[in-house]
Amino acid sequence: MDLGTSAVKVSAVDRNGNIVAQQSFDYELSNPKPGYSEQNPEDWVSGTTVAIVRLILKDGIKPEEIEGISYSGQMHGLVLLDENNQVLRPAILWNDTRTTKQREEILETMGDEYINITRNQPLEGFTLPKILWVKENEPNIFAKAKTFLLPKDYLRYRMTGKIQMEYSDAAGTVLLDVAKKQWSETICNKFGIPVSMCPPLIESIGYAGNISESYSLFSGMSTSTKVFGGAADNAAGAVGSGILAPNMVMASIGTSGVVLKYEDNSDVDYQGKLHFFNHAIPDKFYTMGVTLAAGYSLSWLKKTFGPNEDFTSFVSTAGDSTVGANGLIFTPYIVGERTPHADADIRGSFIGVDGTDKRSDFVRAVLEGIIYSFADIMDIFEEKGQDFDTVVSIGGGAKSPLWLQIQADIFNRKVVSLKNEQGPGMGAAMLAAVGLGWFDTVQDCAKEFVHFGKVYEPDAENVKKYREMHQIYKQVYEATKDVSH
Ligand code: XUL
Repeated sequence: MDLGTSAVKVSAVDRNGNIVAQQSFDYELSNPKPGYSEQNPEDWVSGTTVAIVRLILKDGIKPEEIEGISYSGQMHGLVLLDENNQVLRPAILWNDTRTTKQREEILETMGDEYINITRNQPLEGFTLPKILWVKENEPNIFAKAKTFLLPKDYLRYRMTGKIQMEYSDAAGTVLLDVAKKQWSETICNKFGIPVSMCPPLIESIGYAGNISESYSLFSGMSTSTKVFGGAADNAAGAVGSGILAPNMVMASIGTSGVVLKYEDNSDVDYQGKLHFFNHAIPDKFYTMGVTLAAGYSLSWLKKTFGPNEDFTSFVSTAGDSTVGANGLIFTPYIVGERTPHADADIRGSFIGVDGTDKRSDFVRAVLEGIIYSFADIMDIFEEKGQDFDTVVSIGGGAKSPLWLQIQADIFNRKVVSLKNEQGPGMGAAMLAAVGLGWFDTVQDCAKEFVHFGKVYEPDAENVKKYREMHQIYKQVYEATKDVSH
């Protein structure tokens, strides 16, 4: 079950890692005020159930043959439940930005102690600031709240009847002591959150229960199906992309972009400059930086300057430009930036526009600018002495051979794509496969389920050129931050 922000995608996967059937169902996103982003948790349950019923009735999947299920979930969304486990208000989602005041209060109250415990900054999108917003603005609802869950943990509760939260998602609440894998009583006490509100924790491959009698009657699923913890979408995406060893990094281009690194232990301290969360593999971690407008920068450029063109041919015009886009540099801060600047007000720029520049130079500058911003995230790994040799490229960046080569040249590392990219849903299926005992470890499962495609090697001359350009790119933030607001 891949519970996303706009839709749920349900896939049936066999023992060889092949998707034998797939169904999805879209649901609404509600924006009742600027900056607000909410969803009705009931829509996740009914949408998932419709997709499951279609899988059974249309695709002929036999319920008793579904041995196990697991989840990938949109992160950070707050679902508040009362003493009867009824939902108290619409879920407040990861992309809701109403909580700037609470974010600042958290840091003012606890400062570095907070970052030492959670290993993260309390960003607007994360869950604790949302809980504090409800406490301050809807005290009657907060008074009735007995527990809170995250989106896929709520869906799992509705399918099993068991209240649990899984670690890779719990880390994104920023209420968890990530290294100790325990709820932080210190943080709960400081902000007046009863520790009893924090649900019991389970591993991603941990057994959560079977499909309950009532959900079986509702959906047609069998009570013999075992249910496993699942993971936050980024952790599940990393599992499905084989990011399961310290030398592996994932570079993912969706609307936003993510650079994610596997961490063997919690020793390395990025001081909150990057997100540091528990991985879906027990006692392992991952570090993540986010470029807010990755694919979005390219779709903005196309919508504005090539609205009637086919996307692939628009992107391929970058091949008519040169390495370094004829000296043109783009900073992809068109909706602000998360990593490394954590600046919601900064805006993007084209720097070095020359009278000879053509549209192809602008397209190439955007492809390169997105990758420079990823390289900024990788520089933080390097500053901490963290080495890695392979970058697995997924999403939009993996669809163009030209963009894959640009990544290899800017990262100065081998870049590989996946042969049959399936996204975080495949990671979720792998977690169920390990939970069921089909494989001993997630790594063993990856040997069977994850297949790498072509390897792109860095070209020494291009690497040199890009190194110079990246140094100029790095100066643009400081030079433009005061004129961008
Ligand atoms: C991660 C984040 C997003 C959501 C999207 O911190 O906010 O990637 O997980 O579902």
